[in-house]
Amino acid sequence: MKFIIAYGSVRTDRLGIRAAHYMIHQLEGRGHEIIFFDAKELQLPLLDKMYKEYEQCQAPEPLERMAEQIRSCDGVVLVTGEYNHSLQPGLANMLYYFLEEWFWRPSAIVCYSAGRFGGVRAAVHLRAVLAELGMPSIPSLLPIGKIQTVFEADGTLLDMRLQKQADLYRMSREQRHEDPIPERKPPLLRFFSGPERGAQGSSLPE
Ligand SMILES: Cc1cc2nc3c(=O)[nH]c(=O)nc-3n(C[C@H](O)[C@H](O)[C@H](O)COP(=O)(O)O)c2cc1C
Repeated sequence: MKFIIAYGSVRTDRLGIRAAHYMIHQLEGRGHEIIFFDAKELQLPLLDKMYKEYEQCQAPEPLERMAEQIRSCDGVVLVTGEYNHSLQPGLANMLYYFLEEWFWRPSAIVCYSAGRFGGVRAAVHLRAVLAELGMPSIPSLLPIGKIQTVFEADGTLLDMRLQKQADLYRMSREQRHEDPIPERKPPLLRFFSGPERGAQGSSLPE
């Protein structure tokens, strides 16, 4: 399959680039084709006109190229650091240039931060954005806490717990067949028919 990996930090001393390279390596190692959208390399100006507001084939490079790459991909992996409990502006800027082009591409979020929470608060905001862009995210996150301790400066993985997590974190059609869904009653049925409520003589909530 073909995936876009999108990363939005443009800081000189950015650390998330290590996580982005790690994900590229992980997905290529599983035989996937990767297109890397790096906000720092792309140097998109702050959004003025969306891609669709240009006449056909008149959008500046690299928007034309990116639109074509988005249309051709099967899914998108977002690598987001946490700035003020939200996503990085470079990532937001990159995403917002497009709308319909993103539609129908499932997404997955890899989040990170310098602190212990691994950027999960940014991931929550990013999820809402992805839903609006028609690229809903899979339920699992891959959070990386204290990113400065997880990779060496050259990107070498130091904390092997991340590798274990990454091995569990799959976004593939095969997984539907490999991981059977456990049989469960829908939550409401469990609530009404639970033994503890029956013992109280009433099956209705107060
Ligand atoms: C403007 C700014 C805001 C930040 N806000 C948060 C925050 O809300 N929570 C957090 O855990 N870390 C925060 N950090 C620390 C970042 O998680 C950490 O610097 C991370 O390495 C940023 O990603 P980058 O290095 O790829 O740019 C912030 C950093 C910056 C520069």
